[in-house]
Amino acid sequence: MALDIQSTLSQIWGKFSVEELSSIAAKTLDPGNPTDAGKMWRLPTSHPNPIVLASGIPDDDTIPTDELISGLINGIKNFPVESLTYGGWFGYDECRKAIANRQNRIEKTSLNENNIILHNGSSGCLENILNAFIEPNDVVIVESPSYSGTVRCIQGSLAEVIEIPIQSDGINAKEFKNLIENIKQQNKKIKFFYTIPDYHNPTGNVAPIETRESILRICAENKILIIEDAAYSELYFDEAPPPTYFSLSMGFGVIRMCSFSKVVATGLRLGWIQARDEYIQILTKVRFDMGNSPLIHYALTSFINNGSLDLHVENMRLLYKEKCSIMVNSIEENCGNYLEITPPKGGYFLWLKSHKVKSEVLIQKAAEEGLVFPTGSVFFLDKSQGQYNFRLAFTQPSKKQLQEVGIRLKKAYERCLD
Ligand SMILES: Cc1ncc(COP(=O)(O)O)c(C=O)c1O
Repeated sequence: MALDIQSTLSQIWGKFSVEELSSIAAKTLDPGNPTDAGKMWRLPTSHPNPIVLASGIPDDDTIPTDELISGLINGIKNFPVESLTYGGWFGYDECRKAIANRQNRIEKTSLNENNIILHNGSSGCLENILNAFIEPNDVVIVESPSYSGTVRCIQGSLAEVIEIPIQSDGINAKEFKNLIENIKQQNKKIKFFYTIPDYHNPTGNVAPIETRESILRICAENKILIIEDAAYSELYFDEAPPPTYFSLSMGFGVIRMCSFSKVVATGLRLGWIQARDEYIQILTKVRFDMGNSPLIHYALTSFINNGSLDLHVENMRLLYKEKCSIMVNSIEENCGNYLEITPPKGGYFLWLKSHKVKSEVLIQKAAEEGLVFPTGSVFFLDKSQGQYNFRLAFTQPSKKQLQEVGIRLKKAYERCLD
């Protein structure tokens, strides 16, 4: 009987393309940037000692394993039921309180735990925000270039994504205004402007305060919500970035997405939405996943409250500043003739532009030298852009490897220009 039904099922389903049943998003989206798949990604090099500058992942040695272990043990031992039961739409209230208090200190805001929703990283935050506000064909304006993972997620919500160029001094307010006018003339509804104001992925740029103020005003006049992605905001090398969109606006018209991925560990899958009460009510209405792991919330609460997170972030700033400067020096010494280099003032990424060599060609020759990184065009919707750019992530490789980046890159350029 079991064999009978199996043969019937395999005959029916075997002849059928399940793609016919798939959603528009699944039908139309491309498979995405391989680096976004994390460790499962197969490196495009057979070099015995590859240097991978592709993914935005913290330095492996910095993960505070002892503190996390004691936080996890404390959660399970002292709160066995609470930490191992569905956490609900908001997440563990003491963790949200700890986050709200810390953000109030950093951002000079007046948040309480009810302004915080814990999520599966900032990616989880974004899905919640899109579910709450986006209808098919709504427009979302994004910076060009931007983080490819977010852009795909927005496209998955069936919104239309429209790019606005970002320069080293942020986006141009006049150009932004004109773009909005243009889109509105086509009778389209613009819901969001998605921005990474601090240590932008991929460019490393920081939006100046004047840009932030102009954008806030323009968005308010046009009832466009600003989605502020703060993934890298705390990781400045010397000076903190300007006040956040959220603090400048007291949260009016702004939803902020934050994450522990870049300051602690990506595998924690813990981030949070920060928003005014009226936004939170809408957001929690369309959250259906029963919350993310309460055990992780318990593990992080004492880490935040006892000051360990502050100390940890302080150490990350020093380490990443040093790592960035080692790599920049190596590239300047060896490849100064081949490219334009603007060192970032924080974050994870160095964005470069070759004078002559297209990055599509460069990444192949670099892979032969055991150097792995993405081309610039993966960060644009319009793939004809960024053809001479490429992005190097400097946080995960060792200092010794970073010293070698310029030497290997020089060899790659020489092969390209042979
Ligand atoms: C700008 C930006 N936002 C969000 C994310 C995703 O972060 P999370 O791990 O919190 O989902 C990344 C990851 O690279 C990123 O660069």
